[in-house]
Amino acid sequence: MKEAIARIKKESELFQGEIQDFTTLMQIYRSAIKEVQTKLEILDDTFKTRYSHNPIHHIESRLKAPTSIALKLERRDLPMTIKSMEEGIDDIAGIRVICNYVEDIATVEELLLSQDDVTLLKRKDYITEPKENGYRSLHLIVGIPVYFAEGKRLTKVEVQLRTIAMDMWASLEHKLRYKLKVGEISEETRLSLRACSDELSRIDEEMQNIYREVVKERPAPVRRHPVRE
Ligand code: GTP
Ligand code: MG
Repeated sequence: MKEAIARIKKESELFQGEIQDFTTLMQIYRSAIKEVQTKLEILDDTFKTRYSHNPIHHIESRLKAPTSIALKLERRDLPMTIKSMEEGIDDIAGIRVICNYVEDIATVEELLLSQDDVTLLKRKDYITEPKENGYRSLHLIVGIPVYFAEGKRLTKVEVQLRTIAMDMWASLEHKLRYKLKVGEISEETRLSLRACSDELSRIDEEMQNIYREVVKERPAPVRRHPVRE
């Protein structure tokens, strides 16, 4: 109950006097999700036509809830304004791309970033360098122009790319974190989680090798894109 009251209070504090702008902005983020998701679906189809293989297993997306936005601004000591929300939070629009094989991640990244209306703003590669706890994924923050009544706006979208195995680990670990508070996780549990991640990484590699053996033919190697400031 106390939590619910605090939550309502937080939401009502959120962007006071800027509600109209806030609603418009959320609409823009919603459109940005649709645009990037459509791009990903089209590139998956195109790749399938050319190479008889779908790099994408499935796509999930979500718009960050107003309460989560407010709590994140508070955690980061940022003011509750539209401006600080736009500048300070990268994951209001979030898309998760679950790929079939590890190499599909690089393929999807390359195909998405080669589109000239997609700008790479940030890149974090937790696959080459997994987090200490074993988390693996490739995170891209991309900028995409969204056209609306008053004009055009470059909008940020967080794209997380991972394999089915990486997704399995991340989603179970995420649920476990709700059950256990960080301090309660024993050293043994932490080591087990890390070991599961390493094992899944080995399986990802093996599945990739099996796939290569089966198709014996690879698409052209991928190029890297520089981060544009
Ligand atoms: P935050 O979104 O505030 O965490 O900003 P950041 O820039 O520090 O985040 P980062 O790019 O490292 O991770 C952002 C998102 O990746 C999170 O919101 C989660 O969805 C996911 N993520 C990162 N680390 C973990 C992890 O250890 N476990 C799980 N399950 N997910 C993670
Ligand atoms: Mg986040």
